[in-house]
Amino acid sequence: MSEEGDTTSVTITIRPVGPFLVRGPVTLVQPDGTEIVPPVGKTPGVIKLCSCGFSESKPFCDASHKRCPPPPTTAAPPVTD
Ligand code: FES
Repeated sequence: MSEEGDTTSVTITIRPVGPFLVRGPVTLVQPDGTEIVPPVGKTPGVIKLCSCGFSESKPFCDASHKRCPPPPTTAAPPVTD
């Protein structure tokens, strides 16, 4: 887990609904290597990546997920030996 003030590690928080939250020093690039500059959000240092596929601003979240049906349960399957 990233510590407050840690500028070297990256944390990606997966949530059941809404964007993936990326914290830490990352560079986003297009398939051709062109850098993508993320929009400035309400929380400095956090990039919100769309996980629902409905954003008009992919790869970033534009809050369109709020109009989507809830996703199916995504609990991890039980571990069996
Ligand atoms: S997760 Fe927010 S628009 Fe897709």
